[in-house]
Amino acid sequence: MFRTDYCGKISEKDLGKIVTLSGWVHRRRDHGGLTFIDLRDREGVVQVVFNPQISEDVHQRAHDLRSEFVIQVIGEVALRPEGTENNELGTGKIEIHVRELVILNPAKTPPFLIEDDEEISEGLRLKYRYLDLRRPTVKQHFMLRHQMSQSVRNFLNRQGFLDIETPFLTKSTPEGARDFLVPSRLNTGAFYALPQSPQLFKQILMVSGFDRYYQIVRCFRDEDLRADRQPEFTQIDLELSFVDQEDILMLMEDLITAVFSEVRGISLPSPFPRLTHKEAMDRYGSDKPDTRFGLELKDLCDIARRSDFKVFRTVVEKGGLVKGLNAKGLAGLSRKEIENLTHEAMARGAKGLAWMKVSETGLEAPITKFFSADILSELSQTLEAQPGDLLLFVADKAQIVHDVLGTLRLSLGKRLNLIDENAFNPLWVTDFPLLEYDEGEKRYVAIHHPFAAPLDDDVPLLETDPLKVRAKAYDMVLNGVELGGGSIRIHRQEIQSAVFDLLGISKEEAESKFGFLLEALQYGAPPHGGIAFGFDRMVALLAGVDSIRDVIAFPKTQKGICLMTEAPGEVDARQLKELRIKKERKV
Ligand code: AMO
Ligand code: AMP
Repeated sequence: MFRTDYCGKISEKDLGKIVTLSGWVHRRRDHGGLTFIDLRDREGVVQVVFNPQISEDVHQRAHDLRSEFVIQVIGEVALRPEGTENNELGTGKIEIHVRELVILNPAKTPPFLIEDDEEISEGLRLKYRYLDLRRPTVKQHFMLRHQMSQSVRNFLNRQGFLDIETPFLTKSTPEGARDFLVPSRLNTGAFYALPQSPQLFKQILMVSGFDRYYQIVRCFRDEDLRADRQPEFTQIDLELSFVDQEDILMLMEDLITAVFSEVRGISLPSPFPRLTHKEAMDRYGSDKPDTRFGLELKDLCDIARRSDFKVFRTVVEKGGLVKGLNAKGLAGLSRKEIENLTHEAMARGAKGLAWMKVSETGLEAPITKFFSADILSELSQTLEAQPGDLLLFVADKAQIVHDVLGTLRLSLGKRLNLIDENAFNPLWVTDFPLLEYDEGEKRYVAIHHPFAAPLDDDVPLLETDPLKVRAKAYDMVLNGVELGGGSIRIHRQEIQSAVFDLLGISKEEAESKFGFLLEALQYGAPPHGGIAFGFDRMVALLAGVDSIRDVIAFPKTQKGICLMTEAPGEVDARQLKELRIKKERKV
C-alpha cells in the first residue's frame, strides 16, 4: 500500500495514528540535528521530521533527499512543539515523526522552484508544464474546473439533457472562423474539417427527436489567438426542442446561477438584467459591456448639429454619430497624457479625440470657442459634468465611435479604479442584428450563423431592409466577457432560403456545404434553439485569472505552438506520401 492518507488532508484528528504517505519532496531543511521535509501531494503539504533518536539509519538516508524526489514515509502523526505551528498551513498544527523512508524515484533539479509565488516566464512554464502543474494554485484551477464541469453535468442531467457525442472528423461548420483541415488517406484529395462547434449535428439531433442535448466538447478554430482565445477550446454546448427564446434564457440563467453558487458560493442576481444589442451599443459602445461600473456613453448628435464646430456638425449631417464620455475627475491630465489618449483613439480608426476640461467657471478647451454658452451648458448637463472632470468626444461612423469610446471606457474604468473586482455582473444581450455588411467582401454576412432565426416581426424586412432585421439571438455576458451565445434556429425551409439568398449562398453552395442539414429540416424539424458557453472563459472568471491558458492543462502559445510537445511539427516523408501531399519548397 503506497499510502493511507493524502499529505494535505492530515489534521489533529489523526494524532497518534501511524500513516503511510507518498509524495514529492517540496523542501528540505536541516535544523538542530533534525531533518525536516515538506512532503507534497495533490491535496497539499505536510511537515515530516527525521529524528536520529527514532531511527539513526532513516535520518542518515534523509540527507540524500533533494527537491522533487518521490518518496514514501511511514510515521506517527504528532503535535508540533509549541511555538512552531504554522497557521497558514491546513496541516500546520501537526507533523509526522518518520520511522521508515523509501526513495521511490530521485529527480533532476527542476528548472524552477515549485512554489506559488515564483516569477517564472510563461515560456518556461509551458515547456515544463508537468512541473508547472505541480504548483498548488495552478493545480487548484484544475480542481475548480473539474468541480464546475460536474456541477454543469449534474444540473443538466436533472433537467433531462442527454450527453451525446458528435464527430471531430467532419465537414466545415459555418461559425465564421478558419477551419483546421485533416487530409483523408482513404479518399485522396479530400479533407475533413475539425468542427468549429457541433452546430449542425446538434440541430440534426433535434430532428431525430432527442429533445434536449448537451455536450462538454472541444471545438477547433484557426483564428488569431489572444488571452481569451485558443485554437482548441471547450464549449458547454446545448440544444433544445419545443422552446422559445424565453425558455432558453430562463433555464440557462438557472444553470449558471447553480454552478456559481455550488462551486464558489456566489449568488448572481435573479433575473439577470437584459439589454438589447442596440441599448448595449448606445450606452457602452460594446456588445459585451462590463456593467460593473458606469461611465456610460452619451449621444450628443442633437447638440452637435446645433454647434459651430464643423468637425462634429458635418459628421452628424452625413449620418454619423457624435458621442461623449465623462472621465470623472481627470481634468488634471497633462496635454501629453491627453495626446496619448488621442493616439490610442486614432490607432482604432478615429480621426481625433476632442476634449474639454470642467473647471469651477465652466468648460475649458481650445474648441469651446465653437460652441455657444447655451450649448456648452447643455453639454455639461448631458454629461453630468462637475468641476474636475474631463469630457471626451468622438465624431465618426457609429462603428468607430462605439469601438473607440467603448475601449476608452474600459481603460478609464480600470485607471479610475471603478471596477469592483469581487462583483459578478451577468447580463443578457438580445436582439442582435441578423446580418452585417462586409465592406471588404461587399456582401451581407450572418452575425451569428446562417441558421439563426429572424424576429417574427422583422421577417418582412428581409426583403425591404435586411440590415434592420433583428435575430432571435442572445449572448450571456459576465464582467465584460462573452460567456456564451446562441439563437433560436430557422426550422422552416422558405425562411432559410430567403436568408441564404441574402447571404449570397447559392443553392449549389448550400447543398454542398450543409445539404444534409437542409434535407433533414424537411423531414419534420421541431422548433428548436440552443446556446454554447465558453467553458474555459467561465473557469478563468471563477478562478480569477486573466488568461484561459491558465485553466487549460496543455494550452498553446499565441502562435499556436505547444511548447512541451513542440506541436505542430514535421512529419515523415512516408506519411506525406500516403496522403499524397507534396510540400511546397521553402522560399
Ligand atoms: P459561438 O461561436 O458564439 O457560438 O461560441 C460560443 C462561445 O464559445 C466561446 N469561444 C471561445 N473560447 C475560447 N477560445 C475561442 N477561440 C473561442 N471561440 C468562442 C465564447 C463564445 O461565447 N454553435 C454556436 C452556439 C449556438 O448557436 O448554439 C457557437 O459556437 O465564450
Ligand atoms: P482640428 O480641428 O482638426 O484641429 O481638431 C480639433 C480637435 O478636435 C482636436 O482635439 C482633434 O483631436 C479633435 N477631432 C478632430 N476630428 C475629430 C473627430 N472626428 N472626433 C472627435 N474629435 C475630433
